[in-house]
Amino acid sequence: MQTIDQAGSFPLGDRTVNRMGYGAMQLAGPHVFGPPRDRDGAIAVLRAAVAAGVTHLDTSDFYGPHLVNELIREALSPYPDDLVLVTKVGAVRGADASWNPAASPDALRRAVEDNLRNLGLDRLEVVNFRAMPGGGAGGPAEGSIAEPFAALAAMREEGLIRHLGVSNVTAAQVAEARGIAPVTCVQNQYNIAHRGDDALIDALAADGIAYVPFFPLGGFSPLQSADLAEVAGRLGATPMQVALAWLLRRSPNILLIPGTSSRAHLQENLGAASLALPEEEAAVLDSMGA
Ligand SMILES: NC(=O)c1ccc[n+]([C@@H]2O[C@H](COP(=O)([O-])OP(=O)(O)OC[C@H]3O[C@@H](n4cnc5c(N)ncnc54)[C@H](OP(=O)(O)O)[C@@H]3O)[C@@H](O)[C@H]2O)c1
Repeated sequence: MQTIDQAGSFPLGDRTVNRMGYGAMQLAGPHVFGPPRDRDGAIAVLRAAVAAGVTHLDTSDFYGPHLVNELIREALSPYPDDLVLVTKVGAVRGADASWNPAASPDALRRAVEDNLRNLGLDRLEVVNFRAMPGGGAGGPAEGSIAEPFAALAAMREEGLIRHLGVSNVTAAQVAEARGIAPVTCVQNQYNIAHRGDDALIDALAADGIAYVPFFPLGGFSPLQSADLAEVAGRLGATPMQVALAWLLRRSPNILLIPGTSSRAHLQENLGAASLALPEEEAAVLDSMGA
């Protein structure tokens, strides 16, 4: 049976997770809205991930909405002791599948309560505050996140949340959050072709904070690159495996959460845990995003 042990592990809060995790967003229907096309298949993907040794699972109640958390509960509850479920709050979905900011203290409390109920938990292990600058799907932009992060910190004090993280944020916002409460992880867009966070990753590594790249395979339009394909060909691997192996090699604090609704893709992605990248191939890949 395939093992992901070679990916290594890293602390996430007061737990240690395998660096090869799984992101559940792709389990919802088209546009991350509505039920999956293949419900049994989605449950099978979740169970296969955990059976293979995944201990870090990324989700949100705004996937579906609600439906992905309900699937996770059905597939995996009672949860294994070593499984860390990480969720995120800060947005709500419109009836038209839009993503809308929802960062008032009341909205954040409702989101935490929704996650608790739909995952079937008394306490959430890790909650990321997902910033929605400009009111939508844009990337990080400066601006204070003190009010929403303090609201989550208060819920942590109350015992509803064990650890906090931030998502879609700048380095200054990470620093601001750390001044309010400990930050366990940062979840931003990053992959072999999109490397705006290089300095942030290194700074977080020095402080022992996990960096969790979203869209590690390029997101809704998966990565396509001749360099990636050529390296993969030489190594007898697939381009997606090479992209993930490059991330594992990039920094020890990078935790992977590739998303897929397919068991075959899941197995392929988990295979990246044991893909060693020789120096000369790594050098080709390093120059890709430069
Ligand atoms: N914090 C945030 O704002 C944020 C934003 C986006 C995502 N996330 C989290 O990050 C996780 C990862 O991001 P993501 O799922 O959007 O993007 P991703 O992991 O970069 O890529 C997922 C896409 O790649 C395809 N794929 C996966 N494995 C493949 C393979 N081996 N070969 C070919 N295609 C493959 C998937 O389609 P198939 O289903 O067909 O495999 C899907 O279209 C999400 O699941 C979610 O938990 C967080």
